[in-house]
Amino acid sequence: MEHHMFFLSLILTKLAAMQGCHAVDYAVTNTAITTAGGARFNKQIGADYSKQTLVSATNFIWRIFQQNNSADRKNVKKVSLFIDSMDGVAYASNNEIHFSANYIGNYSGDLKREFTGVLYHEMTHIWQWNGNGQTPGGLIEGIADYVRLKANYAPSHWVQPGQGDRWDQGYDVTARFLDYLTSLRSGFVAELNKKMRNGYNERFFFDLLGKTVS
Ligand SMILES: *[C@@H]1O[C@H](CO)[C@@H](O)[C@H](O)[C@H]1NC(C)=O
Ligand SMILES: *[C@@H]1O[C@H](CO)[C@@H](O)[C@H](O)[C@H]1NC(C)=O
Repeated sequence: MEHHMFFLSLILTKLAAMQGCHAVDYAVTNTAITTAGGARFNKQIGADYSKQTLVSATNFIWRIFQQNNSADRKNVKKVSLFIDSMDGVAYASNNEIHFSANYIGNYSGDLKREFTGVLYHEMTHIWQWNGNGQTPGGLIEGIADYVRLKANYAPSHWVQPGQGDRWDQGYDVTARFLDYLTSLRSGFVAELNKKMRNGYNERFFFDLLGKTVS
């Protein structure tokens, strides 16, 4: 019996070590605590909820992108979220997400839901392939909003399916278009993202769908 316990604990330690080397670290820093928005963040959202959301967004994105193994994913060891006194809403760069305390301070409506939806969008930028910088910005933003849509955090002011002027307009318009394409071919966005690992070509759409987009 003791032998069994010993081996079981060896296996568990090994498993923990294996997961440990692929695990992602998350950090949340509020640099705006002295502002109204920074105080509202601490009171109504908080670092714990933010961290949980970073973890669940990451797992959701890996699933949407069908990146079942670490070899399929971008090699990111740590993602840091900052609540900063700045204008705009949020942006992602260098594995950091910067969220506007001013936006949080001024937001009217369901703040936690909005915050969560924006984090899903920004977290997608951390994990998505960008064709080595060649993928058009509208498509990059559309994929990030597609993930937000599939996570059920689309805000009510978004365009409805079929609205918009051009498929590559970006954001909600492109997200709706990608959702339509996924109804034609299941897993479409995952496959498109995989193709963008090293470069970009509009032909990817034809390769996957047998149709051209423009
Ligand atoms: C990843 O897992 C999903 C769900 O289990 C499966 O449908 C998909 O085929 C897998 N993809 C790869 C590339 O293994
Ligand atoms: C609202 O936004 C403005 C402009 O960014 C900012 O100066 C102000 O502090 C914000 N208000 C709150 C309560 O955060």
